[in-house]
Amino acid sequence: MDFHYTLENIDQAVSDFWNHYLDYHLFAFHGDMGAGKTTFIHKLCDHLLVQDAVSSPTFALINEYHFKSRSNEDRLIYHMDWYRLKDTSEAINAGMEDCIDQAMAGKAICFIEWPQKAEELLRKPYVNIYIESPDELNRVMTTEIITG
Ligand SMILES: Nc1ncnc2c1ncn2[C@@H]1O[C@H](COP(=O)(O)OP(=O)(O)O)[C@@H](O)[C@H]1O
Ligand SMILES: [Mg+2]
Repeated sequence: MDFHYTLENIDQAVSDFWNHYLDYHLFAFHGDMGAGKTTFIHKLCDHLLVQDAVSSPTFALINEYHFKSRSNEDRLIYHMDWYRLKDTSEAINAGMEDCIDQAMAGKAICFIEWPQKAEELLRKPYVNIYIESPDELNRVMTTEIITG
């Protein structure tokens, strides 16, 4: 699917995105620095009524947020940034695989920035998201489901 949005109408894009992908638990956000990965994830968390402060996990590597599932159960979001990871073993040591295991068990949602740093850790099914910025205001998001 494609989504075109600016900061003016990003809420609508987030809502359309989530209506489409709410059954998935693992989301891989690709895009250059400044493309808008963190911004979109922040808005998704707002959409899910996350109360915790949402910020870029560039230094902490994993941020943890709380939200209520559709069945009103407490669920976790793991917001990860793999940019500073060298390889898969470093990702495992940092606890990334545990987060993905929880997502696969349906107990958490993972939003991952720079997934290509440890792509082997991704488990199917997951959603690939590519964000491009044709100019300062506009973003083009392309999404695909990876099934196995
Ligand atoms: N339509 C848009 N969507 C997302 N970010 C936008 C948009 N238009 C402008 N921006 C700006 O682009 C920057 C995106 O930064 P960020 O989300 O941190 O990118 P990334 O996490 O991909 O490095 C922010 O300064 C944001 O305000
Ligand atoms: Mg970011």
